[in-house]
Amino acid sequence: MASDPYKVVSMIYDHMMHRLSYNEWANYIIDIKTFYKDDAEKFLEVACGTGKLNTYLEKSFNDIVLLDISKSMLDVIPSDRKRVCADMTRQPFKSNFDFIYSTFDSINYITDEEEIVRYMWGIRNILSDDGIFTFDASLENNSIKNVKRLNRINKFKGIEYKQVSKYEKDFRLHRNSFRMKLANGEIIEEVHTQKIYDFEFYFDAGERAGLHVLGCFEAFTFEDANDESERIQFIMKKL
Ligand SMILES: C[S@@+](CC[C@H](N)C(=O)[O-])C[C@H]1O[C@@H](n2cnc3c(N)ncnc32)[C@H](O)[C@@H]1O
Repeated sequence: MASDPYKVVSMIYDHMMHRLSYNEWANYIIDIKTFYKDDAEKFLEVACGTGKLNTYLEKSFNDIVLLDISKSMLDVIPSDRKRVCADMTRQPFKSNFDFIYSTFDSINYITDEEEIVRYMWGIRNILSDDGIFTFDASLENNSIKNVKRLNRINKFKGIEYKQVSKYEKDFRLHRNSFRMKLANGEIIEEVHTQKIYDFEFYFDAGERAGLHVLGCFEAFTFEDANDESERIQFIMKKL
């Protein structure tokens, strides 16, 4: 059976996570939960990928639902976990969650401003009354600073890959193209496109979706972010 390019790229991203481990990322999410919604009981991870973060969070968060659009990535997660294959901009849930989180600039995969508002509106509608929504977003300085480093040829677990990374400033699109040669000789290609929105845009989008920004931090810290930041962490709740 042919391999799913998205899943292989995800494995490559996992491999690249040496600069910051999922363990540290999980600790940051736990700190946010402890500060803003310590009594949370129902959790939703949006765009969970292969569930890497969840392996660290499930020890601390009891009742977690994991959502992603890629079935083959969800298939990597043990079947006794609650997994839902759905588009994050079309939430399938009727029930509420106390703490909804999404990591690794997954929001930047939504490449249309109105779709971001729709996404946030969907989240708002499944948040409990004093529930918290937290996510990180990549800003332009992250693209500019890292674009060179992301052009590379590498090898891991028998997969040889070439990554070409290009930031199209005029369109504010960051494209990462992967050409991968698997251990069995199969060649697969995949392009990931992310939209790089303005710092201020997220505040407007949240407000339009009925969400209030409680905090916007330099990612992995609790220091206020600004439009020069590279990765920012939003904390939102219902208006
Ligand atoms: C960079 S990965 C991050 C995965 C995971 N959050 C992590 O930290 O390892 C982005 C994820 O967003 C998912 N994704 C992209 N568009 C989506 C959509 N419209 N709805 C749900 N998931 C989506 C992809 O399938 C992928 O798993």
